[in-house]
Amino acid sequence: MKILINGGAGYIGSHTTVELYNAGHTPIIVDNFSNSERWIIDRIEQITDKRPAVYEGDCTDTNFMNEVFTKEKDIEGVIHFTAFKAVGESVEKPIPYYKNNINSLLTVLEVMQNYNVQNIVFSSSATVYGEPDTNPLTEISPRKEAINPYGNTKLIAEDILKDLATSGANIKTIPLRYFNPIGAHESHLIGELPSGVPSNLVPYITQTAAGLRDELTIFGDDYNTPDGTCLRDFIHVVDLAKAHIATLEYLDKQTAPFFDVFNVGTGNGTSVMELINTFEKVNNVKVKYVIGPRRTGDVESCWADTKKINDTMNWKSEKSISEAMKDSWKWQKTL
Ligand code: WQD
Repeated sequence: MKILINGGAGYIGSHTTVELYNAGHTPIIVDNFSNSERWIIDRIEQITDKRPAVYEGDCTDTNFMNEVFTKEKDIEGVIHFTAFKAVGESVEKPIPYYKNNINSLLTVLEVMQNYNVQNIVFSSSATVYGEPDTNPLTEISPRKEAINPYGNTKLIAEDILKDLATSGANIKTIPLRYFNPIGAHESHLIGELPSGVPSNLVPYITQTAAGLRDELTIFGDDYNTPDGTCLRDFIHVVDLAKAHIATLEYLDKQTAPFFDVFNVGTGNGTSVMELINTFEKVNNVKVKYVIGPRRTGDVESCWADTKKINDTMNWKSEKSISEAMKDSWKWQKTL
């Protein structure tokens, strides 16, 4: 299938582009490179021996998106990664978050309708579950009111997609609720490129180990968890990328209108402390850390029930936390 990947140069987008090639599909990238690097495209070529067509521009620009769909006549599906994703920044600057994350989706949906393209996979997030009442989270666990604009854009986007399918539109759509993506491609040619001081745990660990940060602060060790630190479902980014291919292939077999949501995780809760210990052990390197206060907005525990995606799409995560920690470190050392 010829697949448009909006945000294809980003962390999850670049890994998904590689996996699309591996599965015999043809990825076409749209990216404005506002939070990604042009050389990632060269790296994708190094890994796959294939160079995706790249359209540099903004998904919120209707004329530009119409041009892309006109030039690439036979697009069969879209994976929409395009979004601002820094939770803290979204609290300080809500307008660009709503504008970019929502308008880009609306524009893409409108253009898809013009060109009769039915399939769209959307990057949602486990953040839609807020503070879970129980774990693991299933897709029917209640969504909670968002506590930051970033999370709210994911709730709104899911609702837009659902409303569109309910309206009877010629659309087939699946928001994937990602848990915590970590790791890097086994070639260590692509990986996460945080801009500025990382707010996510793994890039903070690797930058501290590399001496770029003095120390890592663990945000709270007084949670009601086995070791007192938060529990998350850390999923290797290559497994997550493969879930997109399984989703597209599943979506392609459905009849429009279609809407459904799926969790993408490993099904295991791992603590922040366990992840740091694993990083140190598998890489034989120390991470200097201190225990600090809890971070506002953090949930205590959050991990996925993955039965729905396992059974429906015959997809499951394969890579371990240890592999992810080795890959993240090898990638960090190339930077
Ligand atoms: C994980 C755990 C922190 C940094 C966020 C978004 C989510 C998704 C992924 C992104 C928490 C602890 C972290 C540090 C720490 N969106 N931590 N010290 O918060 O689970 O999810 O990122 O695009 O929507 O909410 O991920 O990596 O920030 O934190 O102790 O320096 O690590 O408290 O328990 P989170 P995270």
